[in-house]
Amino acid sequence: MRVAIIGQGYVGLTIAVGAAGAGHSVTGFDVNPGLVEDLNSGKSHIEGISDSQLAGFISSSLFKASVDPSVLEGSDVIVIAVPTPLDHDRSPDLSYVRAAAELINQQVKNPALIINESTSYPGTLRNEIAARITAVEHLFASSPERVDPGNTQWGTKNTPRLIGGLTPAAVAKAKEFYGSFCDSLIEVSSPEVAEAAKIFENTFRQVNIALVNEFAQISHALGISSREVIEAAATKPYGFMPFSPGPGVGGHCIPVDPSYLAHVANEVGVPATFIKRANEVNLAMPAYVVKRVVAGAGGSIAGKTVVVIGVSYKANVADTRETPAAAVIDLIRAQGANVVWHDDLVGSWRGETSAPLTGCDIAVVVTKHDGVSDAAIKSSKYVFDCTGTIAGADGI
Ligand SMILES: NC(=O)c1ccc[n+]([C@@H]2O[C@H](COP(=O)([O-])OP(=O)(O)OC[C@H]3O[C@@H](n4cnc5c(N)ncnc54)[C@H](O)[C@@H]3O)[C@@H](O)[C@H]2O)c1
Repeated sequence: MRVAIIGQGYVGLTIAVGAAGAGHSVTGFDVNPGLVEDLNSGKSHIEGISDSQLAGFISSSLFKASVDPSVLEGSDVIVIAVPTPLDHDRSPDLSYVRAAAELINQQVKNPALIINESTSYPGTLRNEIAARITAVEHLFASSPERVDPGNTQWGTKNTPRLIGGLTPAAVAKAKEFYGSFCDSLIEVSSPEVAEAAKIFENTFRQVNIALVNEFAQISHALGISSREVIEAAATKPYGFMPFSPGPGVGGHCIPVDPSYLAHVANEVGVPATFIKRANEVNLAMPAYVVKRVVAGAGGSIAGKTVVVIGVSYKANVADTRETPAAAVIDLIRAQGANVVWHDDLVGSWRGETSAPLTGCDIAVVVTKHDGVSDAAIKSSKYVFDCTGTIAGADGI
């Protein structure tokens, strides 16, 4: 199939490589010229996709990237994989999805299968995408992406894929496309079910992470290790699923997607109380971390040197979107400490660069990438560990 993918970020490039690997002829369309140039020269910006893998697809003409929207014309399948962030009010910002739909409407004169993989609330495919693409009669399906960047066990091929279409013909064509590179397809009765499943999955994580974050604070006040309790509770073979406490949530999904569900809940007059409370608990975690650091370091950190280790939102990825490290650093600085950060995967961020991991008065470990040594972390006089991986350190 001739496949065009709108958006070449984490999701779009992952699908591009999956489809090219199945022998489809893939064009990755993106509005970012620097990214397109890098991709065409075989440079990947995604952890799970190597430069050599990308270069192989380019040299066998199975993949190319482009900023020219006319590449969409003539496609059999068009996948939308654009950002769905929150606006300044923390409400859904569907401007990228709408722009992609309008572009398809202008550019594509042949009937195609249009798939939305961007995460959004139920009704997006029908009311925001299909309703804007009326120049030609296309097929429309929703297949929300479940990629977990950096996860080496679960990828595009073996993660079951949900498919909901506006018509049976759309479902059939979407199954043919995804069946060529995904092991397990799950057809649901409508695109709305697929869309809702995705945001419910991430709301489930957000709420459980908030619960465990609150529990960690209760446990600490009781003088019990929350991690030991969770480990003990997880020995129950049914009815319990362990989550780990941490400095908050980050990335493009967990802090964002539940607010899409809260938005539609509000529209239909049902209060999404768990989502609201979970956001409050998770967003308050950096302040809790800093309170514990100040207490652990003797009551004041003014004038102390502090290294914050790991500023991406999770281990072994360079993604700093919504990272709780930002609030942790700002709050430590507000206490009058001199803060540097160390993260060689991220390199540069917020106009600052990664500092060498040498001993400071205080080390605060927000995220620990593979290869960061505990011994180097422990060269600081006081270590506060948000990851629960450093033996003997104070932490959450
Ligand atoms: N990152 C994840 O782990 C993940 C997982 C599952 C689902 N999702 C969802 O997938 C969607 C995309 O997320 P992402 O992480 O790939 O985002 P991203 O920011 O990494 O990539 C999005 C890309 O889209 C491009 N873009 C924006 N507007 C465009 C337009 N009109 N035309 C062409 N290109 C355009 C941007 O330049 C960017 O390169 C979001 O809805 C997100 O919630 C993300």
